Formats: sequence, C-alpha cells, structure tokens
Amino acid sequence: MAAEQHSITTVYILGIESSCDDTSCAVIKNELLLSNVTANQSIHQQYGGVIPELASRDHQKNIVPVVDATLKKAGVTLSQLSAIAVTRGPGLSGSLLVGLSFAKSLSLALHIPLVEVNHMQGHILAHFVKEEDDTMASPTFPFLCLTVSGGHTQIVKITNHLQFELLAETEDDAVGEAFDKAAKILGLPYPGGPLIDKYAKLGDAKKYKFPMPQLKNNNYSFSGVKTAFLYFIQEQTKQNTNFIEGNINDICASYQAHLIKYLLKNLLAVSKETGIKQIAIAGGVSANSGLRSELELLGKKHHWQTYIPKFEYCTDNAAMIAITGYYKFLNKEFCGLEVTPLARYSI
Ligand code: KG4
Ligand code: ZN
Repeated sequence: MAAEQHSITTVYILGIESSCDDTSCAVIKNELLLSNVTANQSIHQQYGGVIPELASRDHQKNIVPVVDATLKKAGVTLSQLSAIAVTRGPGLSGSLLVGLSFAKSLSLALHIPLVEVNHMQGHILAHFVKEEDDTMASPTFPFLCLTVSGGHTQIVKITNHLQFELLAETEDDAVGEAFDKAAKILGLPYPGGPLIDKYAKLGDAKKYKFPMPQLKNNNYSFSGVKTAFLYFIQEQTKQNTNFIEGNINDICASYQAHLIKYLLKNLLAVSKETGIKQIAIAGGVSANSGLRSELELLGKKHHWQTYIPKFEYCTDNAAMIAITGYYKFLNKEFCGLEVTPLARYSI
C-alpha cells in the first residue's frame, strides 16, 4: 500500500489562472490555501492596456516557473494532487490557451481529473478561500455579489457554491475600463484603477460633477460617463494647460466617487427587490478603497451583512480558481481533454 494514502476528505487542487495578463497558480488542501504565486506582466504599462499577443507569450515564459514555485511553497508534490482546475474563460483566447493546454497536459500525465472554471465564478468564490489563522467569515447563502473587474460589471445572486444567477450587468463597458480609460486620459499608466484610487484619497470628491446614466432596469452603462470625462478634461485643458497637474487629486476623487455612487445605487435597488441583505463585492475593482468604505457605510444603513475580499484576492489570482475547482471536484464536475477556451463565458 502506498505510504501516502489520501483519506477521502483530503483533496489537493492545483489551480491555474491565465485569462488576462497575470500568470497565477495556487494549491489548496480542501478550502485551505497552501500557496498562491502570481507573475505580473509589466510590459503592458507602456501601451495603456493589455496587448493580447504579448500577454500569451509571457504566460508561456512564466507558467512552468510559477507552477514549480507554487508547489514548492505549498510543500506538496505532483503525486499528491487530486485534480487540476483551470480558467476556461472569459478572457483573452491566446492567454487562456496557455493555461488550459498546460493544465490538460498535467492532468493527462498525472492521470487526475481536469476541472474547468468560469473566471467570474472564481472571483465570487474567492470569498470562501481560507488561510491559516483566518478569522474572516464567508458569506452565507443566498447572497448578492457585485462583481467588478476590467472586463465585467455584474450583480449576481449566489444560491450555493455552484449556482449563480445574473441579475444585472453592464450593457457596454466595464467599470474597470471606466477607471483605466480615465487614467489613460489623465496620462497615467495601465492599469490606472489603483492610481486613481491613490490620488482620490487626497482630493475633494464633491468638486466636479459627472452625468448619472439612467437605464430603466438595474443594468449599468459606463460608456457615456467615460465620454463625458474625456470632454470634461478636453474642455478644461483648453482653458488651462496645467489643469490635470494642478487638480489631479480632485479630478480622481470626484470621478471615483461618481462611479462608486452609481455602482452602489443599483446594488441597493437589487437588494431591495430580492430582499437579500447578504452582500459581497469581488473582482479587481473591489480593491478600491472608496468602494470598500462606501459599501460598509451603506451596509450599516440598510442592515446588510457585507463581505469584502482581502486585497490579494480581489485582482486575478489562482486561489479563486482552485477553490471553485474544489467545489466542482466534490460535485464530480470534470471536463474532457477536448475542452477549448471561451473568450466569452456567461456566469
Ligand atoms: O479582476 P481583475 O484583476 O482582472 C479582470 O478580470 O479584468 O481586474 C482588473 C481591473 C482593472 O481595471 C484595474 O484598474 C482595476 O481592476 N483595479 C482597480 C483597483 N485595483 C484594480 N480599480 C479601482 N481601484 C483599485 N484600487
Ligand atoms: Zn478577473
């Protein structure tokens, strides 16, 4: 008998995430995170956005060392793994292909199941990742999640670990794009969201006003706000060439506050309609300090139980893919080696 026989209750999942410009790998033992290693790609900064061709090339370079480092850090060997979980989409096809091909090869070589994961489900289930000495509570079902990233803006109802219902979404740009494009207009490098957040902390959020989109449902639209921001900056710099430099903090504070107000307005409407007061946020934009504090304030006012992810699990990471893989593994939701990436993959 093998020296290291696993009990049925111990599941080791290796998660791989490569949907955009971060190559990430994580190992979990049931819900406990043992390691999560991410290689970021700085090459895109100079272009003001992710260049798909460059992203997939960097994933090719990074994937083996990242997986290697993750296993070493976890103190887990390949032979201990129960399954490989990998992001299938949504994302950039070339980037997804690198992670998916690698995951297929590993599952084939190790004779263990392959689990494909929806990246947006992963962002939400990041709330269930446990760490050593963790005191953070996970959401209880059903809960609502405002999922805000570079490619998505959604309000999702989660009934159990594997049941998701999309209640509202953006009809054009994502809020992350609204941050990043505004940052580009201000001459800031990609990704601009964290920089807007940084300047906003020092500025007057009431100084400038932007239009609030009026859709008839709870969906979002950010393209008009983005254009209004462009025209505003063009107009102001015509009158004062140093307008941006002289007012960067106030511009960022006002614009960020406007986006947050809009995000929370629709979230409040959905909470009222569904009667659900368990409210979470997830995705890259949930790292925004203004959104985090405003959600807490709104939560107190409306007696919500709010769930705000740790910073490291807001932006893209493989811990969220591994935990989603874990729940799918328990439910025996495996996939075949013929599985292909999905650039669009609805929740
Ligand atoms: O989830 P994520 O890492 O990748 C996607 O799945 O898109 O999200 C990236 C997005 C970018 O638009 C980035 O600017 C934004 O998250 N972001 C932020 C902050 N940190 C990251 N936006 C506002 N404030 C932040 N602190
Ligand atoms: Zn993401």
